Amino acid sequence: MNRAMKRALASVAVGVPVALGLGTIWAHAAVSEEASAGKNLEKNAVGLLQQRCQACHSLGRVFNRLDDDRTKWGRTLTKMRAYGAFLTNQEAELLETYLAERAKQQAFDAPIRASGRFGKDMIWTADELGRSISAIDLGHGAVTGTITGIHNPHNITMSPDGERIFVTDTGREEILVFGTVNGGLIGRFKADLNPMHVFVSPNQKYVLVTNSNSDSVTVHDYLTFARIATFPVGGLPHGLTITPDGRFVYAAGQLTDDVTVIDLEKLKVVQRIHTGQIPVVPAASSSNRFVVVSVLKTSEIWKIDVATQRVVGTVKVQGFPGQVGVSPDSRWVVSGNQITNNVSVIDATTMAVVATIDTGKWAHGVGFTPDSKNAIISNEEDSTISVIDLLKRKVVRSIRTGLGPNGIVGGYPVAMPYTCGPRQPLKP
Ligand code: HEC
Repeated sequence: MNRAMKRALASVAVGVPVALGLGTIWAHAAVSEEASAGKNLEKNAVGLLQQRCQACHSLGRVFNRLDDDRTKWGRTLTKMRAYGAFLTNQEAELLETYLAERAKQQAFDAPIRASGRFGKDMIWTADELGRSISAIDLGHGAVTGTITGIHNPHNITMSPDGERIFVTDTGREEILVFGTVNGGLIGRFKADLNPMHVFVSPNQKYVLVTNSNSDSVTVHDYLTFARIATFPVGGLPHGLTITPDGRFVYAAGQLTDDVTVIDLEKLKVVQRIHTGQIPVVPAASSSNRFVVVSVLKTSEIWKIDVATQRVVGTVKVQGFPGQVGVSPDSRWVVSGNQITNNVSVIDATTMAVVATIDTGKWAHGVGFTPDSKNAIISNEEDSTISVIDLLKRKVVRSIRTGLGPNGIVGGYPVAMPYTCGPRQPLKP
Protein backbone atom coordinates (compact mmCIF):
# COMPACT_ATOMS: atom_id res chain seq x y z
CA MET A 1 0.00 0.00 0.00
CA ASN A 2 1.47 3.37 -0.91
CA ARG A 3 1.69 6.40 1.40
CA ALA A 4 -1.20 8.31 -0.12
CA MET A 5 -3.46 5.30 0.23
CA LYS A 6 -2.42 4.78 3.88
CA ARG A 7 -2.97 8.43 4.68
CA ALA A 8 -6.40 8.51 3.12
CA LEU A 9 -7.39 5.29 4.82
CA ALA A 10 -6.12 6.43 8.21
CA SER A 11 -7.92 9.74 8.02
CA VAL A 12 -11.18 8.06 7.20
CA ALA A 13 -10.86 5.25 9.72
CA VAL A 14 -10.08 7.69 12.50
CA GLY A 15 -11.88 10.80 11.43
CA VAL A 16 -15.19 10.27 9.76
CA PRO A 17 -16.63 6.76 10.04
CA VAL A 18 -19.98 8.27 10.93
CA ALA A 19 -20.05 10.49 7.88
CA LEU A 20 -19.27 7.42 5.80
CA GLY A 21 -22.16 5.57 7.39
CA LEU A 22 -20.27 2.28 7.03
CA GLY A 23 -19.05 -0.30 9.44
CA THR A 24 -15.26 -0.56 9.44
CA ILE A 25 -13.66 -3.95 9.05
CA TRP A 26 -10.29 -4.45 10.67
CA ALA A 27 -7.56 -6.95 9.99
CA HIS A 28 -7.82 -10.34 11.54
CA ALA A 29 -4.82 -12.54 12.13
CA ALA A 30 -4.98 -14.49 8.87
CA VAL A 31 -5.09 -11.48 6.56
CA SER A 32 -2.07 -9.30 5.86
CA GLU A 33 -2.29 -5.70 6.99
CA GLU A 34 -1.95 -4.54 3.42
CA ALA A 35 -4.68 -6.73 1.96
CA SER A 36 -7.19 -5.88 4.65
CA ALA A 37 -6.41 -2.18 4.49
CA GLY A 38 -6.91 -2.32 0.72
CA LYS A 39 -10.27 -4.02 1.21
CA ASN A 40 -11.21 -1.46 3.80
CA LEU A 41 -10.40 1.37 1.44
CA GLU A 42 -12.45 -0.28 -1.26
CA LYS A 43 -15.45 -0.88 1.00
CA ASN A 44 -15.45 2.67 2.34
CA ALA A 45 -14.93 4.18 -1.08
CA VAL A 46 -17.56 2.09 -2.84
CA GLY A 47 -20.03 2.86 -0.03
CA LEU A 48 -19.34 6.55 -0.44
CA LEU A 49 -19.74 6.40 -4.21
CA GLN A 50 -23.04 4.57 -3.83
CA GLN A 51 -24.35 7.10 -1.33
CA ARG A 52 -23.13 10.33 -2.81
CA CYS A 53 -22.92 9.94 -6.55
CA GLN A 54 -25.85 7.88 -7.74
CA ALA A 55 -28.38 10.62 -7.07
CA CYS A 56 -27.31 12.09 -10.38
CA HIS A 57 -25.72 9.38 -12.50
CA SER A 58 -24.62 5.76 -12.64
CA LEU A 59 -21.33 4.58 -11.18
CA GLY A 60 -20.48 3.17 -14.58
CA ARG A 61 -19.69 6.76 -15.51
CA VAL A 62 -17.18 6.90 -12.68
CA PHE A 63 -15.55 3.47 -13.02
CA ASN A 64 -15.16 3.89 -16.75
CA ARG A 65 -12.54 6.59 -16.29
CA LEU A 66 -8.96 5.48 -16.86
CA ASP A 67 -7.52 8.36 -14.82
CA ASP A 68 -4.75 7.03 -12.60
CA ASP A 69 -3.79 10.48 -11.39
CA ARG A 70 -5.06 11.67 -7.99
CA THR A 71 -4.80 15.33 -8.98
CA LYS A 72 -7.06 14.77 -11.94
CA TRP A 73 -9.61 13.03 -9.74
CA GLY A 74 -9.28 15.93 -7.30
CA ARG A 75 -10.39 18.32 -10.06
CA THR A 76 -13.24 16.04 -11.12
CA LEU A 77 -14.46 15.78 -7.53
CA THR A 78 -14.20 19.56 -7.09
CA LYS A 79 -16.48 19.82 -10.11
CA MET A 80 -18.93 17.25 -8.71
CA ARG A 81 -19.00 19.06 -5.36
CA ALA A 82 -19.76 22.30 -7.17
CA TYR A 83 -22.56 20.50 -8.99
CA GLY A 84 -23.97 19.41 -5.63
CA ALA A 85 -22.30 16.13 -4.56
CA PHE A 86 -21.76 16.13 -0.80
CA LEU A 87 -18.24 15.11 0.29
CA THR A 88 -16.07 16.25 3.19
CA ASN A 89 -12.43 17.00 2.33
CA GLN A 90 -11.38 13.73 3.93
CA GLU A 91 -13.91 11.77 1.96
CA ALA A 92 -12.79 13.44 -1.24
CA GLU A 93 -9.20 12.49 -0.43
CA LEU A 94 -10.22 8.88 0.14
CA LEU A 95 -12.05 8.77 -3.18
CA GLU A 96 -9.14 10.38 -5.05
CA THR A 97 -6.84 7.66 -3.75
CA TYR A 98 -9.23 4.82 -4.41
CA LEU A 99 -10.29 5.92 -7.88
CA ALA A 100 -6.71 6.55 -9.02
CA GLU A 101 -5.60 3.14 -7.68
CA ARG A 102 -8.57 1.44 -9.30
CA ALA A 103 -7.80 3.00 -12.67
CA LYS A 104 -4.19 1.76 -12.49
CA GLN A 105 -5.51 -1.78 -12.47
CA GLN A 106 -7.62 -1.27 -15.58
CA ALA A 107 -5.24 -1.94 -18.43
CA PHE A 108 -6.55 -0.64 -21.73
CA ASP A 109 -4.26 -0.46 -24.69
CA ALA A 110 -6.43 -1.55 -27.59
CA PRO A 111 -5.23 0.05 -30.84
CA ILE A 112 -7.38 2.62 -32.62
CA ARG A 113 -9.27 0.84 -35.38
CA ALA A 114 -12.05 1.82 -37.79
CA SER A 115 -14.50 -0.54 -39.41
CA GLY A 116 -17.65 -0.07 -41.47
CA ARG A 117 -18.99 2.79 -43.50
CA PHE A 118 -18.37 6.45 -42.73
CA GLY A 119 -19.21 9.79 -44.33
CA LYS A 120 -19.43 13.52 -43.87
CA ASP A 121 -23.21 13.52 -44.13
CA MET A 122 -23.58 11.24 -41.14
CA ILE A 123 -24.17 11.92 -37.47
CA TRP A 124 -21.12 11.11 -35.35
CA THR A 125 -21.13 10.43 -31.61
CA ALA A 126 -18.29 10.23 -29.07
CA ASP A 127 -19.19 7.16 -27.01
CA GLU A 128 -17.63 7.96 -23.67
CA LEU A 129 -18.39 4.61 -22.02
CA GLY A 130 -17.82 2.41 -25.05
CA ARG A 131 -14.43 4.04 -25.77
CA SER A 132 -15.59 4.37 -29.36
CA ILE A 133 -16.96 6.69 -32.02
CA SER A 134 -20.11 5.85 -33.96
CA ALA A 135 -20.99 7.10 -37.44
CA ILE A 136 -24.76 6.95 -37.90
CA ASP A 137 -26.53 7.01 -41.24
CA LEU A 138 -29.86 8.69 -40.46
CA GLY A 139 -31.45 7.50 -43.70
CA HIS A 140 -30.50 3.95 -42.80
CA GLY A 141 -31.44 4.49 -39.14
CA ALA A 142 -28.39 2.74 -37.71
CA VAL A 143 -24.70 2.93 -36.89
CA THR A 144 -22.75 1.95 -39.98
CA GLY A 145 -19.20 2.71 -38.86
CA THR A 146 -17.34 2.37 -35.55
CA ILE A 147 -13.91 3.51 -34.42
CA THR A 148 -12.63 1.74 -31.29
CA GLY A 149 -9.60 2.04 -29.01
CA ILE A 150 -10.08 5.53 -27.53
CA HIS A 151 -9.76 5.95 -23.75
CA ASN A 152 -12.51 8.44 -22.90
CA PRO A 153 -13.89 10.14 -26.01
CA HIS A 154 -15.84 13.16 -24.79
CA ASN A 155 -16.51 15.83 -27.38
CA ILE A 156 -16.54 15.64 -31.17
CA THR A 157 -16.63 18.20 -33.97
CA MET A 158 -16.33 18.33 -37.75
CA SER A 159 -14.22 20.57 -39.98
CA PRO A 160 -16.14 23.08 -42.13
CA ASP A 161 -15.37 21.14 -45.32
CA GLY A 162 -16.63 17.97 -43.68
CA GLU A 163 -13.34 16.15 -44.31
CA ARG A 164 -12.19 15.74 -40.72
CA ILE A 165 -13.53 14.74 -37.32
CA PHE A 166 -11.80 15.97 -34.14
CA VAL A 167 -12.34 14.16 -30.84
CA THR A 168 -11.11 14.99 -27.34
CA ASP A 169 -9.86 11.97 -25.42
CA THR A 170 -10.02 13.13 -21.81
CA GLY A 171 -8.38 9.86 -20.75
CA ARG A 172 -5.13 10.07 -22.71
CA GLU A 173 -5.49 13.86 -22.69
CA GLU A 174 -5.08 14.34 -26.41
CA ILE A 175 -7.03 15.32 -29.50
CA LEU A 176 -7.56 12.69 -32.18
CA VAL A 177 -8.15 13.56 -35.82
CA PHE A 178 -9.99 11.21 -38.18
CA GLY A 179 -10.95 11.34 -41.84
CA THR A 180 -14.67 11.23 -42.58
CA VAL A 181 -14.22 9.11 -45.71
CA ASN A 182 -13.03 5.95 -43.96
CA GLY A 183 -12.68 6.81 -40.26
CA GLY A 184 -8.89 6.48 -40.48
CA LEU A 185 -6.67 8.19 -37.91
CA ILE A 186 -5.01 11.21 -39.55
CA GLY A 187 -3.20 12.63 -36.55
CA ARG A 188 -3.19 13.24 -32.81
CA PHE A 189 -1.89 16.06 -30.66
CA LYS A 190 -1.65 17.28 -27.09
CA ALA A 191 -3.12 20.56 -25.93
CA ASP A 192 -3.12 21.34 -22.16
CA LEU A 193 -4.48 19.27 -19.27
CA ASN A 194 -7.84 17.50 -19.60
CA PRO A 195 -9.01 18.72 -23.00
CA MET A 196 -12.80 18.85 -23.01
CA HIS A 197 -14.30 20.47 -26.09
CA VAL A 198 -12.86 21.09 -29.53
CA PHE A 199 -13.98 23.37 -32.36
CA VAL A 200 -12.63 24.28 -35.80
CA SER A 201 -12.72 27.94 -36.85
CA PRO A 202 -15.07 28.65 -39.77
CA ASN A 203 -12.14 29.64 -42.03
CA GLN A 204 -10.58 26.27 -41.19
CA LYS A 205 -7.33 27.88 -40.06
CA TYR A 206 -7.48 26.94 -36.40
CA VAL A 207 -8.49 24.15 -34.05
CA LEU A 208 -9.46 25.39 -30.60
CA VAL A 209 -9.51 23.33 -27.41
CA THR A 210 -10.79 24.03 -23.88
CA ASN A 211 -8.46 22.46 -21.33
CA SER A 212 -10.39 22.07 -18.12
CA ASN A 213 -7.49 21.32 -15.78
CA SER A 214 -5.28 24.12 -17.11
CA ASP A 215 -8.01 26.78 -17.23
CA SER A 216 -7.00 27.54 -20.79
CA VAL A 217 -8.12 27.64 -24.40
CA THR A 218 -5.37 26.63 -26.81
CA VAL A 219 -5.36 27.56 -30.48
CA HIS A 220 -3.68 25.17 -32.92
CA ASP A 221 -2.84 25.29 -36.58
CA TYR A 222 -5.43 23.29 -38.53
CA LEU A 223 -2.85 21.48 -40.66
CA THR A 224 0.15 20.99 -38.38
CA PHE A 225 -1.69 21.08 -35.00
CA ALA A 226 1.18 23.29 -33.72
CA ARG A 227 0.11 25.54 -30.87
CA ILE A 228 -0.36 29.14 -31.96
CA ALA A 229 -1.73 30.73 -28.81
CA THR A 230 -2.87 29.99 -25.26
CA PHE A 231 -5.53 32.03 -23.47
CA PRO A 232 -6.29 31.96 -19.75
CA VAL A 233 -10.04 31.53 -19.28
CA GLY A 234 -12.48 30.97 -16.38
CA GLY A 235 -12.02 28.05 -13.95
CA LEU A 236 -12.59 24.49 -15.21
CA PRO A 237 -13.59 25.54 -18.73
CA HIS A 238 -15.87 23.10 -20.49
CA GLY A 239 -17.58 24.01 -23.78
CA LEU A 240 -16.65 26.57 -26.41
CA THR A 241 -18.20 28.04 -29.53
CA ILE A 242 -17.12 30.37 -32.34
CA THR A 243 -19.37 32.89 -34.08
CA PRO A 244 -19.90 32.00 -37.76
CA ASP A 245 -18.03 35.12 -38.90
CA GLY A 246 -15.03 33.63 -37.10
CA ARG A 247 -14.57 36.67 -34.91
CA PHE A 248 -15.40 35.67 -31.35
CA VAL A 249 -14.80 32.59 -29.25
CA TYR A 250 -16.83 31.96 -26.10
CA ALA A 251 -15.56 29.55 -23.42
CA ALA A 252 -17.57 28.64 -20.31
CA GLY A 253 -15.72 28.70 -16.95
CA GLN A 254 -17.62 26.33 -14.69
CA LEU A 255 -16.01 27.30 -11.39
CA THR A 256 -15.87 31.05 -12.01
CA ASP A 257 -19.44 31.38 -13.33
CA ASP A 258 -18.41 33.25 -16.44
CA VAL A 259 -17.90 33.09 -20.16
CA THR A 260 -14.58 34.34 -21.52
CA VAL A 261 -14.74 36.06 -24.91
CA ILE A 262 -11.66 35.80 -27.14
CA ASP A 263 -11.25 37.93 -30.25
CA LEU A 264 -9.92 35.47 -32.80
CA GLU A 265 -8.74 38.15 -35.21
CA LYS A 266 -6.72 40.04 -32.63
CA LEU A 267 -5.90 36.83 -30.76
CA LYS A 268 -6.71 38.33 -27.37
CA VAL A 269 -9.19 38.00 -24.52
CA VAL A 270 -11.62 40.90 -24.75
CA GLN A 271 -14.23 40.21 -22.08
CA ARG A 272 -15.41 38.05 -19.19
CA ILE A 273 -19.21 37.88 -18.99
CA HIS A 274 -20.71 36.85 -15.68
CA THR A 275 -23.40 34.15 -15.91
CA GLY A 276 -25.42 32.05 -13.46
CA GLN A 277 -23.82 29.25 -11.48
CA ILE A 278 -21.78 26.74 -13.48
CA PRO A 279 -22.07 27.57 -17.17
CA VAL A 280 -21.26 24.44 -19.19
CA VAL A 281 -21.64 24.84 -22.96
CA PRO A 282 -22.06 27.98 -25.11
CA ALA A 283 -23.49 27.80 -28.65
CA ALA A 284 -23.43 30.51 -31.32
CA SER A 285 -26.36 31.22 -33.62
CA SER A 286 -25.84 31.09 -37.37
CA SER A 287 -27.19 34.65 -37.56
CA ASN A 288 -24.03 35.82 -35.79
CA ARG A 289 -26.27 37.77 -33.44
CA PHE A 290 -26.37 35.78 -30.23
CA VAL A 291 -24.80 33.05 -28.17
CA VAL A 292 -26.68 30.88 -25.67
CA VAL A 293 -25.11 29.10 -22.73
CA SER A 294 -26.37 26.27 -20.53
CA VAL A 295 -26.16 27.06 -16.82
CA LEU A 296 -26.12 23.82 -14.88
CA LYS A 297 -26.71 24.60 -11.24
CA THR A 298 -29.86 26.65 -11.71
CA SER A 299 -31.01 24.74 -14.83
CA GLU A 300 -31.18 27.81 -17.04
CA ILE A 301 -30.23 28.93 -20.52
CA TRP A 302 -28.71 32.39 -20.79
CA LYS A 303 -28.62 34.46 -23.97
CA ILE A 304 -25.78 36.86 -24.80
CA ASP A 305 -26.02 39.54 -27.46
CA VAL A 306 -22.87 39.41 -29.61
CA ALA A 307 -22.89 43.10 -30.64
CA THR A 308 -22.92 44.35 -27.04
CA GLN A 309 -21.56 41.24 -25.27
CA ARG A 310 -24.35 41.61 -22.73
CA VAL A 311 -26.79 39.12 -21.26
CA VAL A 312 -30.17 39.79 -22.85
CA GLY A 313 -32.31 36.91 -21.61
CA THR A 314 -32.57 33.84 -19.41
CA VAL A 315 -35.03 30.99 -19.24
CA LYS A 316 -35.58 28.15 -16.80
CA VAL A 317 -35.29 24.64 -18.26
CA GLN A 318 -34.97 21.35 -16.37
CA GLY A 319 -32.51 18.80 -15.01
CA PHE A 320 -28.97 20.23 -15.08
CA PRO A 321 -28.60 21.08 -18.79
CA GLY A 322 -25.44 19.73 -20.45
CA GLN A 323 -25.23 20.90 -24.05
CA VAL A 324 -27.36 23.55 -25.66
CA GLY A 325 -27.62 24.27 -29.39
CA VAL A 326 -29.20 26.75 -31.80
CA SER A 327 -30.99 25.41 -34.88
CA PRO A 328 -29.27 26.39 -38.18
CA ASP A 329 -32.14 28.79 -38.99
CA SER A 330 -31.55 30.49 -35.60
CA ARG A 331 -35.19 29.97 -34.58
CA TRP A 332 -34.88 27.37 -31.86
CA VAL A 333 -32.65 26.80 -28.89
CA VAL A 334 -32.57 23.23 -27.57
CA SER A 335 -31.10 22.11 -24.24
CA GLY A 336 -30.24 18.54 -23.19
CA ASN A 337 -31.59 18.26 -19.63
CA GLN A 338 -29.43 15.53 -18.20
CA ILE A 339 -31.04 14.41 -14.98
CA THR A 340 -34.67 14.82 -16.10
CA ASN A 341 -33.99 12.89 -19.33
CA ASN A 342 -35.68 15.44 -21.59
CA VAL A 343 -35.00 18.45 -23.78
CA SER A 344 -36.42 21.95 -23.72
CA VAL A 345 -37.25 23.61 -27.01
CA ILE A 346 -37.01 27.39 -26.63
CA ASP A 347 -38.09 30.13 -29.01
CA ALA A 348 -34.79 31.92 -29.63
CA THR A 349 -36.41 35.32 -30.03
CA THR A 350 -38.70 35.37 -27.01
CA MET A 351 -36.61 32.95 -24.94
CA ALA A 352 -39.76 31.13 -23.82
CA VAL A 353 -39.91 27.35 -23.56
CA VAL A 354 -42.36 26.09 -26.18
CA ALA A 355 -42.01 22.35 -25.52
CA THR A 356 -40.40 19.87 -23.16
CA ILE A 357 -39.86 16.50 -24.79
CA ASP A 358 -38.76 13.22 -23.16
CA THR A 359 -35.87 11.67 -25.06
CA GLY A 360 -33.84 9.15 -23.06
CA LYS A 361 -31.72 8.75 -19.98
CA TRP A 362 -29.16 11.54 -19.52
CA ALA A 363 -30.10 13.71 -22.50
CA HIS A 364 -26.83 15.45 -23.17
CA GLY A 365 -25.53 16.31 -26.65
CA VAL A 366 -27.42 18.54 -29.09
CA GLY A 367 -27.15 18.64 -32.88
CA PHE A 368 -29.40 19.57 -35.79
CA THR A 369 -29.98 18.55 -39.37
CA PRO A 370 -28.88 21.35 -41.74
CA ASP A 371 -32.50 22.01 -42.80
CA SER A 372 -33.43 22.80 -39.17
CA LYS A 373 -36.27 20.25 -39.26
CA ASN A 374 -34.73 17.98 -36.68
CA ALA A 375 -32.79 18.24 -33.45
CA ILE A 376 -30.66 15.24 -32.62
CA ILE A 377 -29.95 14.40 -29.00
CA SER A 378 -27.47 11.95 -27.50
CA ASN A 379 -28.83 10.07 -24.46
CA GLU A 380 -25.69 9.10 -22.64
CA GLU A 381 -27.09 6.52 -20.21
CA ASP A 382 -29.43 4.90 -22.74
CA SER A 383 -26.82 4.64 -25.50
CA THR A 384 -29.21 6.07 -28.05
CA ILE A 385 -29.76 9.21 -30.08
CA SER A 386 -33.26 10.70 -30.43
CA VAL A 387 -34.32 12.42 -33.63
CA ILE A 388 -36.82 15.17 -32.78
CA ASP A 389 -39.17 16.76 -35.28
CA LEU A 390 -39.04 20.42 -34.25
CA LEU A 391 -42.40 21.32 -35.78
CA LYS A 392 -44.33 18.31 -34.49
CA ARG A 393 -42.36 18.61 -31.27
CA LYS A 394 -41.91 14.93 -30.74
CA VAL A 395 -39.32 12.17 -31.02
CA VAL A 396 -39.70 10.56 -34.43
CA ARG A 397 -36.88 8.07 -34.20
CA SER A 398 -34.53 6.55 -31.70
CA ILE A 399 -31.27 4.92 -32.83
CA ARG A 400 -28.87 2.79 -30.81
CA THR A 401 -25.23 4.00 -30.67
CA GLY A 402 -22.06 2.75 -28.99
CA LEU A 403 -22.06 2.83 -25.20
CA GLY A 404 -22.57 6.22 -23.52
CA PRO A 405 -22.71 8.77 -26.36
CA ASN A 406 -21.72 12.23 -25.11
CA GLY A 407 -20.63 14.58 -27.90
CA ILE A 408 -22.56 14.62 -31.17
CA VAL A 409 -21.98 16.27 -34.54
CA GLY A 410 -23.44 15.89 -37.98
CA GLY A 411 -21.89 17.98 -40.70
CA TYR A 412 -20.14 21.16 -39.59
CA PRO A 413 -23.18 23.19 -40.61
CA VAL A 414 -25.32 21.66 -37.89
CA ALA A 415 -25.03 24.96 -36.11
CA MET A 416 -23.84 27.30 -38.84
CA PRO A 417 -25.20 26.42 -42.25
CA TYR A 418 -24.22 29.60 -43.98
CA THR A 419 -20.52 29.50 -43.33
CA CYS A 420 -19.79 26.45 -45.38
CA GLY A 421 -22.23 26.24 -48.22
CA PRO A 422 -25.16 23.93 -48.51
CA ARG A 423 -24.82 20.31 -47.67
CA GLN A 424 -27.17 17.58 -48.71
CA PRO A 425 -30.05 17.53 -46.23
CA LEU A 426 -30.30 14.48 -44.02
CA LYS A 427 -33.64 12.72 -44.30
CA PRO A 428 -34.64 10.82 -41.21
C1 HEC B 1 -25.61 16.85 -8.31
C2 HEC B 1 -25.42 15.91 -9.39
C3 HEC B 1 -24.16 15.08 -9.38
C4 HEC B 1 -23.64 14.33 -8.35
C5 HEC B 1 -24.22 14.14 -6.95
C6 HEC B 1 -22.46 13.70 -8.88
N1 HEC B 1 -22.27 14.06 -10.17
FE1 HEC B 1 -20.79 13.36 -11.40
N2 HEC B 1 -21.63 14.36 -12.97
C7 HEC B 1 -22.69 15.23 -12.88
C8 HEC B 1 -22.89 15.86 -14.15
C9 HEC B 1 -23.94 16.91 -14.47
C10 HEC B 1 -21.91 15.31 -15.03
C11 HEC B 1 -21.68 15.64 -16.50
C12 HEC B 1 -20.60 16.67 -16.55
C13 HEC B 1 -19.75 16.62 -17.74
O1 HEC B 1 -20.12 16.04 -18.78
O2 HEC B 1 -18.65 17.19 -17.64
C14 HEC B 1 -21.17 14.36 -14.24
C15 HEC B 1 -20.12 13.61 -14.74
C16 HEC B 1 -19.26 12.83 -13.99
C17 HEC B 1 -18.09 12.16 -14.51
C18 HEC B 1 -17.64 12.10 -15.97
C19 HEC B 1 -17.16 13.43 -16.46
C20 HEC B 1 -15.84 13.85 -15.95
O3 HEC B 1 -15.65 15.05 -15.79
O4 HEC B 1 -14.97 12.99 -15.74
C21 HEC B 1 -17.46 11.60 -13.45
C22 HEC B 1 -16.18 10.80 -13.46
C23 HEC B 1 -18.27 11.88 -12.27
N3 HEC B 1 -19.37 12.62 -12.64
C24 HEC B 1 -17.95 11.46 -10.99
C25 HEC B 1 -18.79 11.66 -9.89
C26 HEC B 1 -18.52 11.15 -8.56
C27 HEC B 1 -17.30 10.32 -8.15
C28 HEC B 1 -19.56 11.53 -7.76
C29 HEC B 1 -19.78 11.27 -6.29
C30 HEC B 1 -18.74 11.68 -5.40
C31 HEC B 1 -20.47 12.32 -8.59
N4 HEC B 1 -19.96 12.37 -9.86
C32 HEC B 1 -21.64 12.88 -8.13
C33 HEC B 1 -23.46 15.47 -11.77
C34 HEC B 1 -23.28 14.90 -10.52
